Amino acid sequence: MATIPLLTPHKMGKFNLSHRIVLPPLTRNRSFNNIPQPHAAVYYSQRATDGGLLIAEATGVSDTAQGYPSTPGIWTKEQVEAWKPIVDAVHEKGGIFFCQIWHVGRVSTYDYQPNGQAPISCTDKGVTPGLDGVDWSPPRRLKTEEIPLIINDFRLAARNAIEAGFDGVEIHGANGYLIDQFMKDQVNDRTDDYGGNLQNRCRFPLEIVKAVTEEIGSDKVGMRLSPFANYMETDDSNPEALSLYMAESLNTYGLLYLHVIEPRMVRIGDRLESPYSLRPLRNAFKGTFIAAGGYRRDEGNKAVDENYADLIAYGRLFLANPDLPKRFELDAPLNKYNRSTFYIPDPVVGYTDYPFLEQLPS
Ligand SMILES: Cc1cc2nc3c(=O)[nH]c(=O)nc-3n(C[C@H](O)[C@H](O)[C@H](O)COP(=O)(O)O)c2cc1C
Repeated sequence: MATIPLLTPHKMGKFNLSHRIVLPPLTRNRSFNNIPQPHAAVYYSQRATDGGLLIAEATGVSDTAQGYPSTPGIWTKEQVEAWKPIVDAVHEKGGIFFCQIWHVGRVSTYDYQPNGQAPISCTDKGVTPGLDGVDWSPPRRLKTEEIPLIINDFRLAARNAIEAGFDGVEIHGANGYLIDQFMKDQVNDRTDDYGGNLQNRCRFPLEIVKAVTEEIGSDKVGMRLSPFANYMETDDSNPEALSLYMAESLNTYGLLYLHVIEPRMVRIGDRLESPYSLRPLRNAFKGTFIAAGGYRRDEGNKAVDENYADLIAYGRLFLANPDLPKRFELDAPLNKYNRSTFYIPDPVVGYTDYPFLEQLPS
């Protein structure tokens, strides 16, 4: 059988990937009290392959970083210890495992904050209460002198991730969370050095990149962006300029990879193509380029074949198909994902019980 482009090797810095099918970060809300649980070892190792890249779900950098139930953290010793067997389980299968480090910013409520305080952000404008069915609490605008403290939380989280055994970290700059809030001009209304023009709005993300790369080495750091999406009301008037500026700035830090989400997952009804091309970004960024967002097998093959991206991340398909690389290799039928179990707290149902190919009735 001829090898498909998705199943060809790729060298990502010092990592020799055996194929190009990536597990992107997927929040699964099963980390009770913000502690990753033993069932996560089963879940991730099910999806690990020798030389395959996995990125762990969004993981909080501090006690102000959460906005959803039972998401994991990596700011305490207990959390670091809890991650270790999960990372080991992935490594036993030869997988390469990165941790996505995350702060939700204003996408939170008093309930998730220490002492019921207001969530923090670059702004005091809140997410519209009721969006996605949640009564989002109004945020508190960070003072200029507090910003280095948050940057330091990312630095320490990266150090902790390495201590837990992860091969590297992905800085979560996507999907409307804190870093995205700073970058996008329809949210950031600051008048200090962290707001206003493009350079100022990108200062916070790039200071995080600087701190994290200094802490653990740029050969272990990737970043995720969603410049063309407006999740959680984060619009920008010029996403092309914003993303190109970020890609070029990330080059100066020698970042290992750039992981960009195309906004096609927000389609309604029949499939829509993304109105934006990632090609200029891909051409601007010097490291490994990962594309995500609504890809199917044929589209991923085409994207790799046309050098549109080095790697393709498959979210919902990988969630529902623990052996996705094998299924793509064989062009086998895929399990369908069940949206209603994405975020339930069950340690098995909708999590580790999606069948492998050989478990299916023939
Ligand atoms: C259940 C679920 C949880 C997600 N959690 C995260 C997350 O923690 N961090 C993140 O950057 N993206 C997250 N995403 C977005 C996915 O990583 C991915 O970009 C998205 O699903 C689009 O890819 P797909 O069309 O292949 O599913 C999540 C998506 C889903 C469906």
